[in-house]
Amino acid sequence: MSAPVRKAVIPAAGHGTRFLPISKAVPKEMLPVVDKPVIQYVVEEAAASGITDILIVISRSKRPIEEHFHPAFELEAELEAKNRVAELEDLRRLQSLARVHYVWQAKMGGLGDAILHAREHVGDEPFAVLLGDTIVTSTSDKPVTRQLADVVEAHGGSAVALQQVPPEKVSRYGILGGQEIAPGLIRADQFVEKPRPEDAPSNLAVSARYVLSPRIFEHLLRTRPGKGGELQLTDAMASLMKEETLHGLRYDGARHDIGNKLDFLKANLHFALQREDIAEALRAHLHTLV
Ligand code: G1P
Repeated sequence: MSAPVRKAVIPAAGHGTRFLPISKAVPKEMLPVVDKPVIQYVVEEAAASGITDILIVISRSKRPIEEHFHPAFELEAELEAKNRVAELEDLRRLQSLARVHYVWQAKMGGLGDAILHAREHVGDEPFAVLLGDTIVTSTSDKPVTRQLADVVEAHGGSAVALQQVPPEKVSRYGILGGQEIAPGLIRADQFVEKPRPEDAPSNLAVSARYVLSPRIFEHLLRTRPGKGGELQLTDAMASLMKEETLHGLRYDGARHDIGNKLDFLKANLHFALQREDIAEALRAHLHTLV
């Protein structure tokens, strides 16, 4: 059992080197998927999961993220004057999703270092982590972050979202090993960042969503730099796992990692083909291309 999960941290400080040149001056988290930036989908998932307070970890060139979630009074007045009711409602809904705060990560030290910047803001309660460049959809009516919060609120400890990946791709992810204690729910006993396929405890990859116990901060403070010389969240979680339960939840849904070009294009097609105002014309156009 744990306290309710009300806070979330969204790491969005990474330089997006996989998506140059656009990511030089445009944050990868602000790239559009149809007509919304990626990070809006992420904040919407957090809000739909019961999160009311969000801390976004930013760095140089990430200011457009702040502007996106900040009220734009002149724009609202203009839309009101022109009676553009739908757009006005969209803007107001965006600002009411959650209280959004920011902290700067001074230099790139890895995902673990980014999370450590949230220590004071989070305090002593469980919190969600949603990677700001990845949209995660669920086929159930509950967002994946809500499903993880349910696990932690019921069992305590921490929980991560898992997806199966082919063996040749395990070296790109945090990989979790353990015992399946209920369908899709794994009690972890191993957690390794980007292992070689022959060293991987399974093919269950951590997939951009976490709900963490606040004790993670003590372990992050003690953890030495790992893979790539960076402070790895996975290593601190492996250390925490010796004291508190870590569950993995294999979810039904999809992960769109917008930080890479092909997945960005696929995500745009995926979401555009679900839009009533665009789908038909887009489908017809795609037929002419392929
Ligand atoms: C990070 C984590 C990794 C996780 C991945 C996808 O890696 O370190 O454990 O599996 O995100 O959620 P990155 O993609 O930043 O290299």
